[in-house]
Amino acid sequence: MRRAEYRRLDPNDETWWRNAVFYQVYVRSFADANGDGIGDLEGVRSRLGYLELLGVDALWLTPFFRSPMVDHGYDVSDPRDVDPLFGDLETVDRLVADAHQRGLRIIIDLVPNHTSDRHEWFQAAIAAAPGSPERDRYLFRDGLGFGGSRPPNNWTSTFGGPAWTRLPPSPNDAGQWYLHLFAPEQPDLNWENPEVAADLARTLRFWLDRGVDGFRIDVAHGMAKPAGLPDMPEPIRTCPGLLESGVVDPRFDADGVHDIHRMIRKVLDEYPARVAIGEIWIRDDAAFARYIRPDELHMGFNFRLLAADFDADSVRAAIEHSLLAVRDSPAPATWTISNHDAVRPVTRYGGGQVGLARARAMALVQLALPGPVYLYNGDELGLPNVELPDWALQDPVWERSGRTDRGRDGCRVPLPWEGSTAPYGFSATPGTWLPMPSNWAGITVEAQLEEPTSTLSLYRQAVELRQEHHAVTCTEVEWYGAPPGCLAFRHKGGGLVCALNASGAPVSLPPGQVLLASGPLLPGSDALPANTAVWLGE
Ligand code: GLC
Ligand code: CA
Repeated sequence: MRRAEYRRLDPNDETWWRNAVFYQVYVRSFADANGDGIGDLEGVRSRLGYLELLGVDALWLTPFFRSPMVDHGYDVSDPRDVDPLFGDLETVDRLVADAHQRGLRIIIDLVPNHTSDRHEWFQAAIAAAPGSPERDRYLFRDGLGFGGSRPPNNWTSTFGGPAWTRLPPSPNDAGQWYLHLFAPEQPDLNWENPEVAADLARTLRFWLDRGVDGFRIDVAHGMAKPAGLPDMPEPIRTCPGLLESGVVDPRFDADGVHDIHRMIRKVLDEYPARVAIGEIWIRDDAAFARYIRPDELHMGFNFRLLAADFDADSVRAAIEHSLLAVRDSPAPATWTISNHDAVRPVTRYGGGQVGLARARAMALVQLALPGPVYLYNGDELGLPNVELPDWALQDPVWERSGRTDRGRDGCRVPLPWEGSTAPYGFSATPGTWLPMPSNWAGITVEAQLEEPTSTLSLYRQAVELRQEHHAVTCTEVEWYGAPPGCLAFRHKGGGLVCALNASGAPVSLPPGQVLLASGPLLPGSDALPANTAVWLGE
C-alpha cells in the first residue's frame, strides 16, 4: 500500500500530532486473542493491519493496567503493571514495537484523579487511623452531625448517589468518610500530598521509557479540589457532562489543577515528541483555554462538537467555540464526535438510516477541520448504540443511578470483524463480555471493506484525502454563505471545502468539484441531499 511506504516514523518529529487522526481503541471490545470473550492487547496487535488500512496515524488505548474492573479499567490498582486479562508488559512492548513499525503511534490512558479501592495505598489507608500519612493520600474526612453520620458535604458522584462513602467503624476509627467523584471503588487521591505527584511522575516515566508516544489524561479537569471542600450549590449528576458556563461546580476545574498539568508537562518534555491530551468536560472557552497554555497540556478534548445536535447552527457554534478556545494557545483545536462514554453518533443523531446518514456527514465535517481528530472504534463501521437487556448491563452507572440511567455499555459492544453470526470474529467464544446483536452480519469489517459505498470505505477515503489537503499549520476556518440549515467552510487560506446539509430538504451544491460525498448524490443533479456532507475541490 502507498501509505505504508511513505509512513516512516521520525522519532524526533515534534509536530506529528498536530494534524493526526487518532483512533481510540476500547481494548475490552476491539479484538479478543485468547478466547475469553474480552478484548486484549494481543488482539489489538493482531489487527494492526486493519488500522494501517484505515489510514489513522495514532492509537489511543483505554486503560489496560491492573484493575478489579469495576469501571472497566478506570479503577487502577497498579498503574505500572498490565492486567492479566489484557496481557502483560511484554505484550505492551510487542504492541508498541509493531505499531511503530507500521507507522502508527500509541498513546495510553492515564488515570490520575483516583485509584481503585484495591490499590495498596487505599488498603493501607483503611487499615490506618484517621490523621495518618496513609489516609492523607486520599480525601478522608469526619462526617457531620450526630456521630458523624452525615457526609462531609453535599457532593454527588457523577455516576449517581453521594460522592462519599463511610468506612465501617473500627477500634481506631469511628467511621470516617472518603471522597469518590465516581464509583465508591474509585477513591479520589489527595493531590496536595507530594507523594501523589511523585508517584504519577514515576508512572509517566515508566511508560515513556517503554516507548509510548503520550497519554490521554482521564478527568484532567478533576484532581485538584477547592480548599475546605465547599458544598455545591445544587446536586449535579451527569456522566459524562459538559460543565456549563456560569454553573459553579466545586468538584471540577479547581485552580490547583494547573500546577499538576505543569508537572506532567515537565516530565513529558524530557522525552522527544511525546504528547498529552486531557479529558476536559468544560464548556467555557476561557476556562478551557487555561489547560492548554504553553507549559500545560499539548491538547485538550473539546467536547462541544460531540455535544452538538445535528443542526447547522449548533455545529457551527461548536466549531467556532472550539477554535476560539485555542486562539491564544500553541495547541490545535481537537475534534471528536464519539468516545466510550457517549451514545454512538448513529443513534444520537436519530437512529436508523437517517442517523447513519447524519453520522457519516458529521464524520466528513470533523475530518475537514484543522487539527487532530479522534475517532472511536466502531464508528468507522457505522455501529449504532446497542439496546442491551437489563441482565447484560455492567456499567456502574446503571446500579448507582438506581437503574434509571442505562449507562455506557451500549457504545462498548465488541466490534464485528467477519462472518454472519455473533461474535463475528471478535472472539472464539460466543460468550462475549457484552452480547453482540444478531443482525450485524452486514456491517462487519469484512462486509464493508470492498464495498465502495460502505461507511468504512467513506472513512478510508476521507482519511486519505485529508492527508493530501490538510495544511498542518492551519488553525482557522473560512465560512461561506450557506442556505438555512446548512454550513460550508474550508481551511483559512485554502484546501477543500466542506459543505453540510442539515436541513430537511435538498439544497444546491456549492461550486467546485465533488471529491467525496457522505451519501449518494443523484447523477447529473447539482443537489446536495438532506443529511449529507460533501468535500469539494477547486
Ligand atoms: C473518564 C472516563 C470514563 C470513566 C471516568 C472515571 O470520564 O472516560 O470512562 O468512567 O473517567 O475514571
Ligand atoms: Ca481476551
